[in-house]
Amino acid sequence: MSGSGRAASRTAVLVCQGRAAADGRTSVGRFADPLAIRLLRDAERVPVAEVRANTAPQGWQARVAFESVRACSEVVVPRTVAIDEALRARVTGQLVVLGAGLDTRAWRLPGLAQTDVWEVDHPASQQDKRARLAEAVGVPRSTDESGRSAVQLPVAARCVRFTPVDFAVDDLGAALDAAGHDPSKPTTWLWEGVVPYLARSEVHATVAALAARTAPGSALVVNYQAPSARAAIGRLLARVLGSSVTSGEPWRSLWTPQQMAALLADNGLRVVSDDDLLTLAHTLDSPALGRTSLRSGRVAVAVSH
Ligand SMILES: C[S@@+](CC[C@H](N)C(=O)[O-])C[C@H]1O[C@@H](n2cnc3c(N)ncnc32)[C@H](O)[C@@H]1O
Repeated sequence: MSGSGRAASRTAVLVCQGRAAADGRTSVGRFADPLAIRLLRDAERVPVAEVRANTAPQGWQARVAFESVRACSEVVVPRTVAIDEALRARVTGQLVVLGAGLDTRAWRLPGLAQTDVWEVDHPASQQDKRARLAEAVGVPRSTDESGRSAVQLPVAARCVRFTPVDFAVDDLGAALDAAGHDPSKPTTWLWEGVVPYLARSEVHATVAALAARTAPGSALVVNYQAPSARAAIGRLLARVLGSSVTSGEPWRSLWTPQQMAALLADNGLRVVSDDDLLTLAHTLDSPALGRTSLRSGRVAVAVSH
């Protein structure tokens, strides 16, 4: 895969920090991600520990990192719970995680023993994850002799196949084909925290590519951002205050629920649920129900016609 020569995603690290900060502290029983902390480097664990201890640090930069992780943590908990529950309800033999970042589901989600997982991500982000995994759990970085990067994991998924794809330039279908994904069998697709970072044309192309490989009995779980003036101001403020994490990866497309449903319907996928994260957070002991991004973040589930 060609990729576009950029660095590994920093927002992927931020959401992993958010999950590590919440693990065992928030919504226990419905939310857990004990592997998240192990994927983080020492310096990245510092704000996580501060959020867990609820101790804001001195100094501007440290405080910005602390607030970013705290805010992110409050958003990722309902998002993770909603997605975990949607995935558990729609397990198939194939799970494709699009823009996987430091997602740990292949290692932690119960019920995947008969499921092959494809982790699709930008080449730079995927390389970074594999290095972190190698450090954390001893997963080999090299591909096996079939060239598929297959890794047998005893605990959750039957198998994880790392599939590097830049949605902006690469052919997702060809990459999945080469990695052994079978379009004639049902697939559960997960697309979490990625849509805002793609241009509308890239979102269209990705949906078309996955729809072409979606057999009856498949489902798509997609997390996206709806337009929100308050969320836009929040991100602008974060940039002004010096959060280099979000400034390096700007939001490029926002979708109303109607637009998302129409896009999916055009590609043979019918939305069966679409909830905002605030509604989801109300079912949890979430600490901050006022977060703007909770209101505009959404999780939709769509099934093949
Ligand atoms: C905020 S992270 C989300 C990661 C993960 N899904 C999660 O929720 O923890 C955004 C992810 O989108 C991926 N991404 C953004 N633009 C991409 C592109 N053009 N091609 C492939 N992946 C992309 C990044 O590499 C990163 O892993």
